[in-house]
Amino acid sequence: MLRVLVMVSGGGTNLQAIIDSVNTGDITNAEIVGVISNNYGVKSLERAKNAGIDACVVSPKDFASRAEFNDGLLAKVNSYKPDLIVLAGFLVVIPEQMIDEYENRIINIHPSLIPSFCGTGYYGLKVHEAALERGVKLTGATVHYVDKGTDTGPIIMQKAVEVREGDTPKELQQRVMEEAEWKILPAAINKIANNL
Ligand code: GAR
Repeated sequence: MLRVLVMVSGGGTNLQAIIDSVNTGDITNAEIVGVISNNYGVKSLERAKNAGIDACVVSPKDFASRAEFNDGLLAKVNSYKPDLIVLAGFLVVIPEQMIDEYENRIINIHPSLIPSFCGTGYYGLKVHEAALERGVKLTGATVHYVDKGTDTGPIIMQKAVEVREGDTPKELQQRVMEEAEWKILPAAINKIANNL
């Protein structure tokens, strides 16, 4: 059984897709051992609780410095003894030490077809605003391994999504989630859990 730790910052619809896929058997040989959020009061925590999954908050606000936060975060991560760490909308820069300790064991979902609309400053709705601004007709989502760059690690899976005339950033975000993110993130976890 692959021990999966999911890290979140907000609504947690990707977390929900992972939970649902474990329940339906679309993900096998994996269990979600915990959820870490950097924010208090977010829906992700409720989703974890409803699924009976251990969840906690490690917030930078509770630490005197970034270095102390990084240490606290890594200690919490280690406490779950994860085989795989899934960044499911975790909008915090991962401490270098954590990337070293979990090399090739951290994956991230990004809401564009990397290498488009990724890197520093491209997260959440901003990615879709940029895609609409550029006028691309296709966008999508990418699951990739996390290395020390921003969105630069090896790509595991991608799925394209059509941009429609008149899309707002929110509409596009929703379609990318439904048609791509909620499918490829669970699929990538299943792939890793089963050495596919
Ligand atoms: C998702 O769209 C995810 O791809 C994005 O944040 C959203 C989280 O939604 N992540 C990034 O932009 C990372 N650079 P969720 O909390 O509902 O899963």
